[in-house]
Amino acid sequence: MIKKCLFPVAGYGTRFLPATKSMPKEMLPVVNKPLVQYGVEEAIEAGLDEVGFVTGRGKRAIADHFDVSYELEHQIAGTSKEQYLESIREVMSKGSFSFTRQTEMAGLGDAILNGRRLIENQAFGVVLSDDLCVAEEGVLSQMVKLYKQFRCSIVAVQEVPEEDIHKFGVIGGEQIKEGIYQVNQMVEKPDPKDAPSNLAIIGRYILTPDIFEILENTPPGKNNEVQLTDALMTQATDGCVLAYKFKGKRFDCGSVAGFVNATNYVYENIYGAK
Ligand code: G1P
Repeated sequence: MIKKCLFPVAGYGTRFLPATKSMPKEMLPVVNKPLVQYGVEEAIEAGLDEVGFVTGRGKRAIADHFDVSYELEHQIAGTSKEQYLESIREVMSKGSFSFTRQTEMAGLGDAILNGRRLIENQAFGVVLSDDLCVAEEGVLSQMVKLYKQFRCSIVAVQEVPEEDIHKFGVIGGEQIKEGIYQVNQMVEKPDPKDAPSNLAIIGRYILTPDIFEILENTPPGKNNEVQLTDALMTQATDGCVLAYKFKGKRFDCGSVAGFVNATNYVYENIYGAK
Protein backbone atom coordinates (compact mmCIF):
# COMPACT_ATOMS: atom_id res chain seq x y z
CA MET A 1 0.00 0.00 0.00
CA ILE A 2 1.92 3.07 1.15
CA LYS A 3 5.56 2.12 0.71
CA LYS A 4 7.47 5.40 0.47
CA CYS A 5 8.42 8.01 2.99
CA LEU A 6 10.14 11.34 2.44
CA PHE A 7 12.54 12.87 4.93
CA PRO A 8 13.28 16.52 4.25
CA VAL A 9 16.72 16.89 5.83
CA ALA A 10 18.27 19.87 4.07
CA GLY A 11 17.62 22.44 6.85
CA TYR A 12 20.50 24.18 8.60
CA GLY A 13 19.67 23.51 12.24
CA THR A 14 20.65 27.02 13.28
CA ARG A 15 19.08 26.63 16.72
CA PHE A 16 21.76 24.06 17.51
CA LEU A 17 24.84 25.99 16.43
CA PRO A 18 27.68 25.50 16.96
CA ALA A 19 26.94 21.73 17.20
CA THR A 20 25.41 21.78 13.72
CA LYS A 21 28.12 23.81 12.03
CA SER A 22 29.60 20.82 10.23
CA MET A 23 27.24 18.08 11.41
CA PRO A 24 23.65 17.60 10.19
CA LYS A 25 21.13 18.33 12.95
CA GLU A 26 19.43 15.05 12.05
CA MET A 27 22.56 13.23 13.28
CA LEU A 28 22.37 14.68 16.80
CA PRO A 29 22.10 11.65 19.07
CA VAL A 30 19.22 11.18 21.46
CA VAL A 31 21.12 8.98 23.91
CA ASN A 32 23.02 6.73 21.46
CA LYS A 33 20.97 6.93 18.27
CA PRO A 34 20.78 9.79 15.78
CA LEU A 35 17.45 11.56 15.55
CA VAL A 36 16.91 10.58 11.94
CA GLN A 37 17.21 6.88 12.76
CA TYR A 38 14.25 7.13 15.15
CA GLY A 39 12.19 8.58 12.31
CA VAL A 40 13.32 5.94 9.82
CA GLU A 41 12.55 3.14 12.30
CA GLU A 42 9.05 4.60 12.76
CA ALA A 43 8.53 4.67 8.98
CA ILE A 44 9.75 1.09 8.52
CA GLU A 45 7.52 -0.10 11.37
CA ALA A 46 4.59 1.39 9.44
CA GLY A 47 5.61 -0.54 6.30
CA LEU A 48 7.12 2.53 4.60
CA ASP A 49 10.44 0.90 3.84
CA GLU A 50 11.37 2.91 0.74
CA VAL A 51 12.96 5.91 2.33
CA GLY A 52 13.74 9.06 0.35
CA PHE A 53 15.88 11.86 1.73
CA VAL A 54 15.64 15.36 0.38
CA THR A 55 19.09 16.43 1.34
CA GLY A 56 21.52 19.28 0.78
CA ARG A 57 25.05 20.49 1.26
CA GLY A 58 26.83 19.31 4.39
CA LYS A 59 24.53 16.34 4.93
CA ARG A 60 26.65 13.47 3.72
CA ALA A 61 26.86 11.96 7.18
CA ILE A 62 23.19 10.95 6.79
CA ALA A 63 23.92 8.93 3.65
CA ASP A 64 26.93 7.32 5.35
CA HIS A 65 24.81 6.40 8.37
CA PHE A 66 22.53 4.28 6.21
CA ASP A 67 25.44 2.56 4.45
CA VAL A 68 27.96 -0.06 5.53
CA SER A 69 31.12 1.17 7.21
CA TYR A 70 33.57 -1.50 6.09
CA GLU A 71 36.45 -0.49 8.35
CA LEU A 72 34.21 -0.45 11.38
CA GLU A 73 32.56 -3.76 10.52
CA HIS A 74 35.96 -5.33 9.98
CA GLN A 75 37.36 -4.00 13.26
CA ILE A 76 34.55 -5.16 15.50
CA ALA A 77 33.46 -8.34 13.71
CA GLY A 78 33.21 -11.16 16.21
CA THR A 79 33.64 -8.92 19.26
CA SER A 80 31.05 -8.02 21.89
CA LYS A 81 30.88 -4.52 20.39
CA GLU A 82 28.92 -5.82 17.44
CA GLN A 83 25.75 -5.50 19.50
CA TYR A 84 25.96 -1.71 19.20
CA LEU A 85 25.44 -1.96 15.46
CA GLU A 86 22.36 -4.14 15.73
CA SER A 87 19.70 -1.44 15.40
CA ILE A 88 21.23 0.24 12.36
CA ARG A 89 21.95 -3.11 10.70
CA GLU A 90 18.31 -4.02 11.12
CA VAL A 91 17.16 -0.72 9.60
CA MET A 92 19.53 -1.21 6.67
CA SER A 93 18.36 -4.74 6.02
CA LYS A 94 14.70 -3.73 5.99
CA GLY A 95 14.82 -0.42 4.14
CA SER A 96 16.04 1.06 0.88
CA PHE A 97 17.46 4.58 0.84
CA SER A 98 17.41 7.14 -1.95
CA PHE A 99 18.64 10.70 -2.01
CA THR A 100 17.83 13.82 -3.92
CA ARG A 101 19.05 17.34 -3.34
CA GLN A 102 17.24 20.53 -2.47
CA THR A 103 19.52 23.21 -3.85
CA GLU A 104 17.76 26.20 -2.31
CA MET A 105 16.21 26.51 1.15
CA ALA A 106 12.83 27.61 -0.17
CA GLY A 107 10.55 26.00 2.42
CA LEU A 108 9.06 22.65 3.40
CA GLY A 109 6.72 22.76 0.39
CA ASP A 110 9.71 23.18 -1.92
CA ALA A 111 11.52 20.30 -0.20
CA ILE A 112 8.54 17.99 -0.77
CA LEU A 113 8.31 19.10 -4.39
CA ASN A 114 11.98 18.21 -4.80
CA GLY A 115 11.15 14.69 -3.63
CA ARG A 116 8.60 14.17 -6.41
CA ARG A 117 10.83 11.97 -8.56
CA LEU A 118 11.47 9.65 -5.64
CA ILE A 119 7.75 9.25 -5.00
CA GLU A 120 6.00 9.33 -8.38
CA ASN A 121 2.26 8.77 -8.41
CA GLN A 122 1.39 7.21 -5.08
CA ALA A 123 0.46 8.24 -1.55
CA PHE A 124 3.47 8.65 0.71
CA GLY A 125 4.53 9.54 4.22
CA VAL A 126 6.57 12.52 5.37
CA VAL A 127 8.63 12.61 8.55
CA LEU A 128 10.24 15.73 9.96
CA SER A 129 12.84 14.06 12.09
CA ASP A 130 13.13 17.05 14.47
CA ASP A 131 9.88 15.82 15.90
CA LEU A 132 10.71 12.69 17.84
CA CYS A 133 7.58 10.67 18.51
CA VAL A 134 7.36 7.97 21.14
CA ALA A 135 4.27 5.82 21.12
CA GLU A 136 3.24 2.26 21.79
CA GLU A 137 2.13 1.98 18.18
CA GLY A 138 4.23 4.31 16.00
CA VAL A 139 2.48 7.50 14.93
CA LEU A 140 2.94 6.70 11.22
CA SER A 141 1.46 3.23 11.75
CA GLN A 142 -1.57 4.85 13.36
CA MET A 143 -1.88 7.19 10.38
CA VAL A 144 -1.50 4.44 7.77
CA LYS A 145 -4.46 2.65 9.35
CA LEU A 146 -6.49 5.80 9.03
CA TYR A 147 -5.39 6.29 5.43
CA LYS A 148 -6.65 2.82 4.56
CA GLN A 149 -10.05 3.91 5.78
CA PHE A 150 -10.28 7.43 4.33
CA ARG A 151 -7.80 7.56 1.39
CA CYS A 152 -6.91 11.21 1.71
CA SER A 153 -4.06 13.32 3.06
CA ILE A 154 -3.65 13.23 6.83
CA VAL A 155 -1.70 15.48 9.17
CA ALA A 156 -0.82 14.56 12.75
CA VAL A 157 -1.88 17.19 15.27
CA GLN A 158 -1.53 17.84 18.95
CA GLU A 159 -2.93 20.48 21.30
CA VAL A 160 -0.39 23.14 22.14
CA PRO A 161 -0.47 26.04 24.60
CA GLU A 162 -1.28 29.49 23.24
CA GLU A 163 2.29 30.77 23.58
CA ASP A 164 3.54 28.02 21.23
CA ILE A 165 0.91 28.45 18.50
CA HIS A 166 3.15 30.75 16.40
CA LYS A 167 5.68 27.92 15.90
CA PHE A 168 3.31 25.60 14.00
CA GLY A 169 0.89 25.10 11.19
CA VAL A 170 -2.53 25.17 12.85
CA ILE A 171 -5.72 23.53 11.66
CA GLY A 172 -9.38 24.24 12.03
CA GLY A 173 -11.98 21.63 11.32
CA GLU A 174 -14.94 19.58 12.23
CA GLN A 175 -14.51 16.54 14.43
CA ILE A 176 -15.94 13.57 12.53
CA LYS A 177 -14.83 10.90 15.00
CA GLU A 178 -13.00 10.93 18.32
CA GLY A 179 -9.66 12.62 17.55
CA ILE A 180 -10.25 12.86 13.77
CA TYR A 181 -11.05 16.19 12.12
CA GLN A 182 -12.07 17.10 8.62
CA VAL A 183 -9.88 20.12 7.98
CA ASN A 184 -11.44 23.33 6.68
CA GLN A 185 -8.78 25.81 7.80
CA MET A 186 -5.02 25.71 7.90
CA VAL A 187 -2.69 28.55 8.76
CA GLU A 188 1.09 28.44 8.89
CA LYS A 189 2.51 29.90 12.11
CA PRO A 190 -0.37 32.25 12.92
CA ASP A 191 -0.61 34.87 15.64
CA PRO A 192 -2.49 33.17 18.47
CA LYS A 193 -5.39 35.59 17.94
CA ASP A 194 -5.77 34.43 14.31
CA ALA A 195 -5.36 30.71 15.01
CA PRO A 196 -8.37 28.58 14.07
CA SER A 197 -7.76 26.27 17.07
CA ASN A 198 -5.02 25.05 19.39
CA LEU A 199 -4.40 21.97 17.22
CA ALA A 200 -0.87 22.21 15.83
CA ILE A 201 0.54 20.12 13.02
CA ILE A 202 3.51 18.02 14.05
CA GLY A 203 6.01 16.50 11.67
CA ARG A 204 4.11 13.45 10.42
CA TYR A 205 2.07 13.51 7.24
CA ILE A 206 0.48 11.15 4.76
CA LEU A 207 0.06 12.90 1.44
CA THR A 208 -1.79 11.94 -1.69
CA PRO A 209 0.29 12.54 -4.84
CA ASP A 210 -1.91 15.35 -6.19
CA ILE A 211 -0.09 17.47 -3.60
CA PHE A 212 2.81 17.84 -6.07
CA GLU A 213 0.77 19.66 -8.68
CA ILE A 214 -0.76 21.83 -5.99
CA LEU A 215 2.70 22.64 -4.63
CA GLU A 216 3.86 23.65 -8.10
CA ASN A 217 1.12 26.26 -8.11
CA THR A 218 1.48 27.39 -4.51
CA PRO A 219 3.14 30.80 -4.21
CA PRO A 220 5.57 31.50 -1.35
CA GLY A 221 3.69 32.19 1.88
CA LYS A 222 4.83 32.71 5.47
CA ASN A 223 8.49 33.82 5.63
CA ASN A 224 8.49 33.92 1.83
CA GLU A 225 8.76 30.12 1.70
CA VAL A 226 6.59 27.62 -0.17
CA GLN A 227 4.51 26.20 2.66
CA LEU A 228 3.19 22.64 2.70
CA THR A 229 0.44 23.96 4.98
CA ASP A 230 -0.82 26.27 2.20
CA ALA A 231 -0.85 23.43 -0.35
CA LEU A 232 -2.74 21.24 2.11
CA MET A 233 -5.28 24.01 2.58
CA THR A 234 -5.92 23.93 -1.19
CA GLN A 235 -6.27 20.15 -0.99
CA ALA A 236 -8.71 20.51 1.90
CA THR A 237 -10.81 23.03 -0.04
CA ASP A 238 -10.92 20.98 -3.24
CA GLY A 239 -11.10 17.54 -1.67
CA CYS A 240 -10.36 16.22 1.79
CA VAL A 241 -7.62 16.52 4.40
CA LEU A 242 -7.88 14.94 7.81
CA ALA A 243 -6.16 15.95 11.02
CA TYR A 244 -5.43 13.18 13.48
CA LYS A 245 -4.78 13.65 17.16
CA PHE A 246 -2.21 10.89 17.49
CA LYS A 247 -1.65 8.74 20.53
CA GLY A 248 1.79 9.17 22.04
CA LYS A 249 4.38 11.74 23.01
CA ARG A 250 6.19 14.17 20.77
CA PHE A 251 9.41 16.02 21.52
CA ASP A 252 10.53 19.07 19.59
CA CYS A 253 14.14 18.10 19.13
CA GLY A 254 14.71 21.20 17.00
CA SER A 255 14.81 23.16 20.25
CA VAL A 256 17.38 22.67 22.98
CA ALA A 257 14.75 22.23 25.71
CA GLY A 258 12.79 19.66 23.69
CA PHE A 259 15.98 17.81 22.83
CA VAL A 260 17.04 17.58 26.48
CA ASN A 261 13.54 16.38 27.45
CA ALA A 262 13.67 13.73 24.73
CA THR A 263 17.10 12.59 25.88
CA ASN A 264 15.96 12.24 29.48
CA TYR A 265 12.78 10.46 28.46
CA VAL A 266 14.49 8.00 26.12
CA TYR A 267 17.25 7.32 28.62
CA GLU A 268 14.83 6.61 31.44
CA ASN A 269 12.10 4.77 29.53
CA ILE A 270 13.51 3.19 26.41
CA TYR A 271 17.29 2.89 26.45
CA GLY A 272 17.60 0.95 29.69
CA ALA A 273 14.48 -1.10 29.05
CA LYS A 274 16.03 -3.03 26.14
C1 G1P B 1 7.08 22.76 9.89
C2 G1P B 1 5.72 23.05 9.26
C3 G1P B 1 4.68 23.39 10.32
C4 G1P B 1 4.64 22.28 11.35
C5 G1P B 1 6.04 22.00 11.93
C6 G1P B 1 6.02 20.77 12.82
O1 G1P B 1 7.60 23.95 10.43
O2 G1P B 1 5.86 24.12 8.33
O3 G1P B 1 3.43 23.56 9.73
O4 G1P B 1 3.74 22.65 12.38
O5 G1P B 1 6.98 21.77 10.90
O6 G1P B 1 7.25 20.58 13.45
P1 G1P B 1 9.13 24.12 10.89
O7 G1P B 1 9.22 23.56 12.27
O8 G1P B 1 9.93 23.37 9.89
O9 G1P B 1 9.39 25.61 10.86
